[in-house]
Amino acid sequence: MYRTKNCGELRMQHVGEQVTLAGWVQTVRKFGSITFSDLRDRYGITQLYFNELLNSQLDSTPIGREYVLQVTGKVVERSNKNNKIPTGEVEVEVASFKILNAAEVPPFTIEENTDGGDELRMKYRYLDLRRPTLRRNLELRYKVNRSVRNYLDTLGFWDIETPFLIKSTPEGARDFVVPSRMNQGQFYALPQSPQTFKQLLMVSGYDRYYQVVKCFRDEDLRADRQPEFTQVDCEMSFVEQEDILNTFEGLFKHVFKDVKGVDITYAFPRITFDDAMWHYGNDKPDIRFEMKIQNLKVDGAVNCLTIAQAIGGFKVFDEAETILAICVPGASEYTRKQTDEITEWAKRPQIGMTGVINIKCNNDGTFKSTVDKFFSAEQQAEIAAFCGAGKGDLILLLAGKETRTRKAMSELRLEMGNRLGLRNHDDYKPLWVIDFPLFEYDEDGNRWVARHHPFTSPKPEHIELMNDLSRYGEIKANAYDIVLNGTEIGGGSIRIFQRHLQEKMFAALGMSKEEAQEKFGFLMGAFEYGAPPHGGIAFGFDRLCALLGGQESIRDFIAFPKNNSGRDVMLDAPSAIDEAQMKELGLK
Ligand code: AMO
Repeated sequence: MYRTKNCGELRMQHVGEQVTLAGWVQTVRKFGSITFSDLRDRYGITQLYFNELLNSQLDSTPIGREYVLQVTGKVVERSNKNNKIPTGEVEVEVASFKILNAAEVPPFTIEENTDGGDELRMKYRYLDLRRPTLRRNLELRYKVNRSVRNYLDTLGFWDIETPFLIKSTPEGARDFVVPSRMNQGQFYALPQSPQTFKQLLMVSGYDRYYQVVKCFRDEDLRADRQPEFTQVDCEMSFVEQEDILNTFEGLFKHVFKDVKGVDITYAFPRITFDDAMWHYGNDKPDIRFEMKIQNLKVDGAVNCLTIAQAIGGFKVFDEAETILAICVPGASEYTRKQTDEITEWAKRPQIGMTGVINIKCNNDGTFKSTVDKFFSAEQQAEIAAFCGAGKGDLILLLAGKETRTRKAMSELRLEMGNRLGLRNHDDYKPLWVIDFPLFEYDEDGNRWVARHHPFTSPKPEHIELMNDLSRYGEIKANAYDIVLNGTEIGGGSIRIFQRHLQEKMFAALGMSKEEAQEKFGFLMGAFEYGAPPHGGIAFGFDRLCALLGGQESIRDFIAFPKNNSGRDVMLDAPSAIDEAQMKELGLK
């Protein structure tokens, strides 16, 4: 046996016992004729004490950081206790030790907070993974995985694997493709999701399916996106939207409780897509704080009387398609410097506004604004009343084109939430966004595309509208997203399960009958052999883990992630392949 105990196990009750430990040397501290060292493994850290006798042995065979060591000795009570670690009351008085493997000096410190930059840590990911931060993240990931599986198992879901070498599944990104040696000139696509397979499993009668599965999407990367990521993918037969929402709300409550000890006893709020856009400016609202958007003027239609009265007065407002506001609670005493900072923030190219107008609702009932010249105190009071602003609030207004202004206001709301410390990581505020549009207009491609994916069912009462291109924007789908703290962590829909409707959908997306048959004939064929009504959902597993771990970036919740250019820095992939391999695959 290499060890009798691990490095996180020893307590006062073990004092006097002979133990053998094995692990990595975290630190070596020499004090004259004695030496202390911390030995680390996945379970924790134990202090080792080398007396004078062993010290001479250490002189001839020195140990250093990250050496793999086996030690045998007696557990003794420490005189100088460390209450920061669970083993801090004891140490092992080493009787003998063996170096199992020496180590080079690591390129960065393997501590909670390291001095290594991102790229360096990615290159030596196996060392970075030794750090407690990452170890905790992966432990959390494992626990979430286990919790999800347990819940789905009790409800009779079966874990069924689906293939990776497939034909394209449209989830809105580019495919990663794999050349076929046996079928030269032809390519497999890696699945963007197992969407069509899970639907086929419903046709096969498997009723409740799930899979914790890798998905592959060639898209621009961000903190919450990786080219290969993991979904908890689920599908159910003979269900309506309500059944799915209830089942998976239950899953979330179970996981929150199981993994974080957080009890969410209320029903998750549900908000329509239209309302989300109206009040929050995006379809993944962060509802940890209020500060809802006030719509003073939208697409040219004026809602706040004062704005109408100002026509001919204040050009910025008169010419704006849309004017939006938020009330920042308790911020009326912001200094000029602080409001200037907000303006500079809004002028950055990512936000793209020309400025921010502010009205301070002073505690004494007066108003002070950047538009004092254009609006009387009464008019400012009217704007404040429209916005629901009270004494002490700061109103921030943006004016411009509808889409850009709404997007900017959505960002400004989040920014002010950050500045006011209203976006606490431990505060979990999940919600459902429902009634998504079936289509969205792709300005670049000049055509309508599926907002979710083409297998999503329109609301039955809206199917009629599919005959009228001019009304595509009004069609709503039985599609829903689950949102947590401003991040979309899952999305799904009730599916189309009849051939004629699926054909109609493909036609609406501008696909010819032949093209639809060539790409999705297998699915439409299956619908002719008794497809049950069905629906499902998929969660971004990496995103869920990151949020439960209190972080926004998913990278540190994945053992071996890619960097922002989609590279595995450790493997140095992607890389060129040799001529012979190219030839074999029939590639030039
Ligand atoms: P969707 O495309 O919405 O739906 O994906 C489901 C969830 O997966 C997560 N996600 C990602 N996570 C990390 N990196 C990425 N590149 C990435 N892309 C998506 C998100 C998202 O909510 N087949 C449908 C589901 C269904 O209809 O049942 C689908 O894949 O959290």
